[in-house]
Amino acid sequence: MENNRPNWSSRAAFIIAAVGSAVGLGNIWRFPYIMGQYGGAVFLLVYLILILTICFIPLMAELATGKTLKKDCVSAYESVNKKFKFFGVLNPLTGILIASFYFIVGGWIINYIYVSALNLKIENYSEYFGLFTQSSVPACIYTLVFLFICVFFAGRGVKKGIEFANNVLMPMFAVLLIGLISFSLNLPNAHLGLEYMFKPDFSKISSEMFLAALGQALFTLSIGMGALLTYGSYIKDDKNITKSAYTIIFSDTLFALMAGIMIFPAIFSFGLEPNSGAGLVFVTLPYIFSQIPHGNIVSFAFFLLLLAAAITSGISIIEVPIASMVERLKISRTKACTILFCVISIIAIPATLSFGVLSDVTVLKKSIFDFLDFITANLLMPLNAFILCIIAGWFLKIKGNMFLQNKIAAFLFDIGLKYIVPIILFSLMYIGLK
Ligand code: PHE
Repeated sequence: MENNRPNWSSRAAFIIAAVGSAVGLGNIWRFPYIMGQYGGAVFLLVYLILILTICFIPLMAELATGKTLKKDCVSAYESVNKKFKFFGVLNPLTGILIASFYFIVGGWIINYIYVSALNLKIENYSEYFGLFTQSSVPACIYTLVFLFICVFFAGRGVKKGIEFANNVLMPMFAVLLIGLISFSLNLPNAHLGLEYMFKPDFSKISSEMFLAALGQALFTLSIGMGALLTYGSYIKDDKNITKSAYTIIFSDTLFALMAGIMIFPAIFSFGLEPNSGAGLVFVTLPYIFSQIPHGNIVSFAFFLLLLAAAITSGISIIEVPIASMVERLKISRTKACTILFCVISIIAIPATLSFGVLSDVTVLKKSIFDFLDFITANLLMPLNAFILCIIAGWFLKIKGNMFLQNKIAAFLFDIGLKYIVPIILFSLMYIGLK
């Protein structure tokens, strides 16, 4: 059975795919919008502290669990103890729910590529964004196109495409971002954006803010839904995974900070509201592009590269349910992809319509889209990460000295995995949801 599982061609291929999973819409779209909703710099501070301290532990634990057990999530958890099967199933389920809103945003990107290619003149970007997201049929079609692209690539296997996207396209994306940052920083009142991002206003601290920062940290690093476990399970050699974890954390944080420094000065310069929600980036960026000579070409390139980043993350999201279906139900990848396409569409279509005809439908006072975003990042991912730490630390007995040379670091890792991180995850969920 093991021989039929996919494998990375090299360690580099694995790192590239894992970074590709991490860097995506979470950095460019979700990070600025959540930070804008939770008060800017204080949020950033808590987010960075979480990323630089505790996130390393569940990240490593997920990779190590995958690498050790070499199974899909459900089989992996079940092999530790039959009773854990349900916890394993939570991972692909979370993946399906994430895909159902993430792919909508992927669809928005495709629309913006189209708009820039045609060089359409738009007078008011917030109005345009509102009208586009409210349009029932076109918005749904874009969601389905993005879903189809991801399912198509995932169906062809894990290696093809991802390496090119990450090796060639991501460095290009970083260069373009640097160019846009320098433009943003030269806008009038840009300093207000930097202050908003880097000068903490401690009166904005709240328990939900801590949970939102945790949710964003897990979401952006792809921790807590089995993506890293599944990717880790395709590592065939005994190579050390520590360097991969550092690379993921470093590149992901770099992209998020670059996105923030590009967006916030522009928001303040154009007099927009940082807390305007999920549309934030899609309203601000077109404003920036409209000010740049040949802005439509820059816009086209930007959204195309963002699409590549979104696809590599999107593939990793659906790889979790695909791997579980292929291995558990013993069906072909193509069949698994087809089933998944249908299942995700069933949830993604109402979520897309929640900006328009279904805007009155609310769950816990949130639109379907906001609810899916909230429940996955702030509840299911911390919960899955918590369960993973307990299983990896207490039952599978993953130990720091398996991958950390330094004895003190290995010791800290062990305590972190068994006690500190589960307690922090649990406490943040408890106070944030209370
Ligand atoms: N980390 C990805 C991003 O930032 C999203 C993602 C979440 C991917 C969960 C895989 C698993 O866009």
